[in-house]
Amino acid sequence: MILVTGGAGYIGSHTCVELLNAGHEIVVLDNFANSSRTSLERVRQICRKPFAVVEGDIRDQAVLEKTLKDFGCTAVIHFAGLKAVLDSVKSPLDYYDNNIIGTHRLLRAMRTRGVKRIIFSSSATVYGDPKFLPYTEDHPLNPVNPYGRTKLVVEEMLRDLVASDSTWSVGILRYFNPIGAHESGLIGEDPKGVPNNLLPFVAQVAVGRRDRLNVWGSDYDTPDGTGVRDYIHVVDLAQGHVAALKTIDQAGCFAVNLGTGRGNSVLEVVKAFEQASGKSIPYELRPRRSGDVASCYAATDRAAKYLGGWRAARDIETMCRDHWRWQSQNPKGYDG
Ligand code: NAD
Ligand code: WQD
Repeated sequence: MILVTGGAGYIGSHTCVELLNAGHEIVVLDNFANSSRTSLERVRQICRKPFAVVEGDIRDQAVLEKTLKDFGCTAVIHFAGLKAVLDSVKSPLDYYDNNIIGTHRLLRAMRTRGVKRIIFSSSATVYGDPKFLPYTEDHPLNPVNPYGRTKLVVEEMLRDLVASDSTWSVGILRYFNPIGAHESGLIGEDPKGVPNNLLPFVAQVAVGRRDRLNVWGSDYDTPDGTGVRDYIHVVDLAQGHVAALKTIDQAGCFAVNLGTGRGNSVLEVVKAFEQASGKSIPYELRPRRSGDVASCYAATDRAAKYLGGWRAARDIETMCRDHWRWQSQNPKGYDG
């Protein structure tokens, strides 16, 4: 039995589908701070398999201990946390509380219950400004915002834990830019308020919820001047977690990138989305967004090595097509 914290969220719900399809039993714990219960109903609809849901907060150690015990959990996949970079600059204490203290309570609950296998959602943001590209896992870690620092602190906490007790098994997965949706169009990304990230914004323009996209920066040192990122299909990312579960026991503690190794510019993504949706995406070239880098993409060899040959398989066209299916079938998200 696997405890999935934050399983109702964007990446968590897709990972629940892949876990259930791979024959795992799961229990989801979520406080629904940034998600809807409907996502989990949709997971049931896709997989036609039952699973339990606990409404609870990772900062509540008693609830965590009870859940681990009641369901006989043997591993945790830990997605729960706050993830908006700008919010983290405005409200750093909320981010330190949720992401660091929350994870600390989770690890203490796991230790109490003797559950010592965990996969943690880290982020490419831990690398900070690139000293070289692609980012290998040995690139210096120097996050430039509070959100990224919370991820780095948790990574260090996990490394210290394994150093103190080698019976822990820890997989740290550093995601690049997850986009797309399950091919059914039943689950996908449903941000609250104005989306910060590119794909949800583009998709909301395509579906008529917003007039135009602001392209943040057109004078970068990239082929067309707009920012380049390593977009990875959320289903590839989810399957990376299933692969990681198989290998954590042999590895002690490892950190790997989950990306495709390829970069696409903002304008390339806009074009691919226009083709996928048949809609035009009006945009305006605007000044750079503070904190952005020109390019960011992953070295992928270490993930392939540690995750039994796993590699991201879906291309940008598939990512846009699947994202559009979700957005067009659910123009106002889950509960709109
Ligand atoms: P999300 O917001 O959709 O999912 C997070 C889930 O955690 C939500 O369902 C939310 O309600 C829940 N949650 C938050 N705080 C909680 C708490 N204290 N107790 C219980 N549940 C709580 O985000 P996502 O995009 O699915 O991201 C999942 C994880 O991956 C996060 O840790 C995020 O930092 C990390 N990550 C995301 C991205 C990305 O671009 N989406 C990139 C790198 C890393
Ligand atoms: C992508 C590109 C923007 C919006 C963030 C976090 C990172 C990780 C993933 C969690 C950039 C451009 C965007 C818009 C635009 N999350 N853009 N107009 O900044 O690479 O990464 O999400 O861990 O930590 O920092 O992703 O989708 O915001 O931006 O032109 O309205 O799209 O400038 O070049 P980013 P993003």
